Amino acid sequence: MLDQAALSLETTRSLNRLLPNIEDRFAGRMAPGEWDAFAERLHRHFPDLFRLLLGLYGGRYDFFYHLEQTVALAAQSWIDRPADLKELDEARDADPLWFQSETMLGGVCYVDLFAGDLTGLFDKIPYFRELGLTYLHLMPLFDAPEGENDGGYAVSDYRQVEPSLGTMADLQRLARALRDEGISLVLDFVFNHTSDEHRWAQKAQAGDPDYADYYFLFPDRQTPDAYDQTLREIFPETRRGCFTYRAEIDRWVWTTFNSFQWDLNYANPAVFRDMAGEMLFLANAGAEALRLDALAFTWKQMGTNSENLPQAHQLVQAFNALLRIAAPAMLFKSEAIVHPDEVAKYIGRGECQLSYNPLLMALLWNSLATREVRLLRHSMGYRFRIPDDCAWVNYVRCHDDIGWTFDDGDAAALGINGYDHRRFLNEFYTGRFAGSFARGLPFQENPRTGDARISGSLASLAGLERALLAGNEAEIELAVRRICLLHAVILSIGGIPLIYLGDEFGVINDYGYRDDPAKADDSRWVHRPRIDWEEAEKRHQRDTLQGRIYSRLQHLIAVRKGTAAFAGGRMEVVDVGNDHVFGYVRSAPAGEGAQRVLALANFTETVQAIDANEVRLYGLGYRFTDLVAEKEITLGEGEVALEPYQVMWLLARDER
Ligand code: GLC
Ligand code: GLC
Repeated sequence: MLDQAALSLETTRSLNRLLPNIEDRFAGRMAPGEWDAFAERLHRHFPDLFRLLLGLYGGRYDFFYHLEQTVALAAQSWIDRPADLKELDEARDADPLWFQSETMLGGVCYVDLFAGDLTGLFDKIPYFRELGLTYLHLMPLFDAPEGENDGGYAVSDYRQVEPSLGTMADLQRLARALRDEGISLVLDFVFNHTSDEHRWAQKAQAGDPDYADYYFLFPDRQTPDAYDQTLREIFPETRRGCFTYRAEIDRWVWTTFNSFQWDLNYANPAVFRDMAGEMLFLANAGAEALRLDALAFTWKQMGTNSENLPQAHQLVQAFNALLRIAAPAMLFKSEAIVHPDEVAKYIGRGECQLSYNPLLMALLWNSLATREVRLLRHSMGYRFRIPDDCAWVNYVRCHDDIGWTFDDGDAAALGINGYDHRRFLNEFYTGRFAGSFARGLPFQENPRTGDARISGSLASLAGLERALLAGNEAEIELAVRRICLLHAVILSIGGIPLIYLGDEFGVINDYGYRDDPAKADDSRWVHRPRIDWEEAEKRHQRDTLQGRIYSRLQHLIAVRKGTAAFAGGRMEVVDVGNDHVFGYVRSAPAGEGAQRVLALANFTETVQAIDANEVRLYGLGYRFTDLVAEKEITLGEGEVALEPYQVMWLLARDER
C-alpha cells in the first residue's frame, strides 16, 4: 500500500503518462469542446479510478497496460454517446438529486410476460403514464440460452437483445420514447457471471487459456472442496456446493447460482476491462440506471464466504468512477440481498446511489404475519438512514423469493429467536401454519441448515388467493387492504417506491410453471405470470377485484405525488404506544412549503386505538387532514381509531 503522498504522486505521474496518448488517439475525433469536457472529468475522477484499480490490480506486471486500455474505453464510449444522452448528462448534473422527488414511482416487469416483446411494450407506454411511472426496470432482455436461463440472468451477449423480444435498435428507441414521457429506463448489469454460452465461456470451453482465465475452472475437486468449506449455498436445491462439473472439458466450474451461470474471475483485469466495455455500451443504449445484479458475490477469497469482500466494493466503485467520466448521468442500483449491515455498505455516492431495501420488505411481511410492528420499528429506527444524496428503492414484491434477512441481534433485543422465527415465517407464508392467510411456496429449502425462502405473488401471500378459493368476501376485503397497506408504506416512507407490475391489480400465483421443464424446479416462476390484459382491463371497473385494488392504489399514488413531505429519504420512526401500529414522520425541509406528515399503519385485522396525545406529540398539532381518507380530524381528549389495516397520512394543519 502506498501512503497518501506517494499515491498522489503516482496518480499524477500515471495521468501525465496516459493523457498525451489518449488525447492523440481521441481528441481529434471529438466535436469541439467535447475533449475539454472529457478531459475535465477525467482529471476529476482519475484519482479514484487509479486508486481503486491499483488496489485491485496494482501487483500485476501489466497493470499500466490495462489502465490505459480502460481509459481508452471511456474515451471511445464518450465519442459514441448519443447527443440526447449527453444532454441528459447535463440535466442530471444540474439536478443530481432528481431521483428523490415525491413524483418518483418505479415499476418492474418482464418484457415477454408483460407485453410479448419490445414493440408490445411500446404500446404499454400509455398504461405506464396512467399509473404514473417515472422509472421502469425491464428484467434482463439480452441474448440468453434457450430453455433454462434464470429468467434472463444468464447472459450470452450483453450487446444483443434476445431475438424473440426485438433488437438493440428497438431498445434504444424505447429508451428514448420512455424518456420523452419522463420515464427512466433501468436495465440489469449482470456482471457476476455470464451464461455458459457467452463467447468467452465458449472460448474457455474450446481450450483457449486466455478465456479460461475469465472464469474459475479447476481440474479436480481439491480447490473447489477447499472453497466450499466456507461458501453459502445459494441454490441448494440445484446442487450441493458452488461448483459444477463439465464433462466435455473435464473441469469444475465456479457457479454460485445455476450450473449454467459461470462466475467471472475479477482477479483478472481483462475481465474488469471487458465488463466495463459492456457496461458503457448499456449506458449508451439509453439506460439511466443499472441494477447491479448479485454484486455481493463478485470477489472470491479462499477461507471466506466470498460475499461482500472489500474488493467487491472496490470493483463497483471503479465501475462507478468510469461512469462519472464517460456516462455521468448513470446511476447504480445495488442488489445486495444480504445482511442489513452489508446492504448498507454498498450505498454511497461513489458506489451505489440507489439500493433495494430488502430489510424493509422482509419486515413488512413479518409484521403482517405476526400482527406486530416491534421488529419493524426497532430495525427501521436505526437502519433506514442512508447518505442524504442516495435513495432506497422500496418494494414489497419482486421477481425473486423473500428471504428473511433481518438481523438476529435486532430480533434478540426484542426477545425473538431469529432461527425459530424464520421457521415460523416460512411455515406461515407456505400456508402450513394454522390460520395463515397466505399461499406461498418454499424456495431452495436446505435440509442441512433448515433454511428456506418464500415464493408467491403479493396477492397470494397477502391472502387473496385463499379468500377467493373460499369465496369469503370479508377475507377478500382484508386481503385487498393488506395489499394497499404494504404499498402505502413504500409510497410514503422515503425513497423510490417500486411496484412489481401486475401487483397493482392483484395477480395471484400461477402454478403453470410446473408443466414447463425449464421452470419446474424453480418455484419463483409461480409469481412470474404472463399478464392477462383482459383481466387487467377490469381495473377501470370499481366493482371488480382488479378495480378495487387499482383504484385505491391510484389514489395513494396521487397523494404521494402531491405531498412534498414524501420527497427525499429522511424518516423518523415513532413509537405511538401501540405495538400493532407502525408510525413514522416525514417532513419537507423547513421554510416555505414546510410540511410534516405522521404516517400510521395498522397491521392487524382489528380496530387499533392510538392515544390522541401521541398523535398530537408526533404530529405537532391538534388539527390534521388525513390525506388518505381526505378527512379533517380534530383531536379531542380520547383516542384515534384505525380500522383493520387502515393507513392514515396525517398532515398537520396548524404549522407552528
Ligand atoms: C439476482 C437475481 C436473481 C438471479 C440471481 C443470479 O439475485 O435477482 O433472479 O437468480 O441474481 O443472477
Ligand atoms: C440470494 C442472493 C440474491 C439473489 C437470490 C435469488 O438471496 O443473495 O442476490 O437474488 O438469492 O434467489
